[in-house]
Amino acid sequence: MPWDEIVARKFPAFDKELDGISRQTMEDHYKLYEGYVKKTNECRGRLRDFDYAEIEGNQVFSDLRSVSVDYTFALLGFKNHDLYFGHLGGEGGDPNGRFAELMDTEFPGGLDVWQQAVRKATSAARGWVMVGYDLNDGSLFNYIMDTQNLWAVYNMVPVLAIDVYEHAYARDFGATPDGRKQYVDAFFRNVDWDHVNRQVAQAEAARAGATQSGAVE
Ligand SMILES: [Fe+2]
Repeated sequence: MPWDEIVARKFPAFDKELDGISRQTMEDHYKLYEGYVKKTNECRGRLRDFDYAEIEGNQVFSDLRSVSVDYTFALLGFKNHDLYFGHLGGEGGDPNGRFAELMDTEFPGGLDVWQQAVRKATSAARGWVMVGYDLNDGSLFNYIMDTQNLWAVYNMVPVLAIDVYEHAYARDFGATPDGRKQYVDAFFRNVDWDHVNRQVAQAEAARAGATQSGAVE
């Protein structure tokens, strides 16, 4: 199926009062998301329409190189926020369901240690923390990402996305390490674990399908 332009989606979180994350922060944040949508379409359109018979391919600098690299920044800006906004607006609390079941086996101390680990990860990341399900081995892992297009790996399906760029929390909590910690606590008070568990179910189904077809193992 050929590529088609992406569109900014609406999310239930914008119709609710979140606990600790202000409406203004969410609305400003949505404008950034819309910017990623616009630039994703612009980059992808240019990459489709380049005259490849004539365009320069140069590893130091070339339009092809620049647009290709920035496309991943724009597209993952869209994808990461899609998940982030998508799983806000829930009841928060401790993880439950399949996510909790799987994550409980990832650390020697179980889910309690994951709760500590993911919070520490949010202090160690410069842009995002993604919890991803690995289609190759079925494990869950906390990825520390310095921007939306660095350092996740292939065959990882994000199931939980925490935006730790300052724009996500500076207005409400202050642009300090402590402000970020307070914001992460607020994030977990608003996360929709049902949404997270739907992501896990989708990832497990993809893994099951791929394993059956022999594509992953
Ligand atoms: Fe963001």
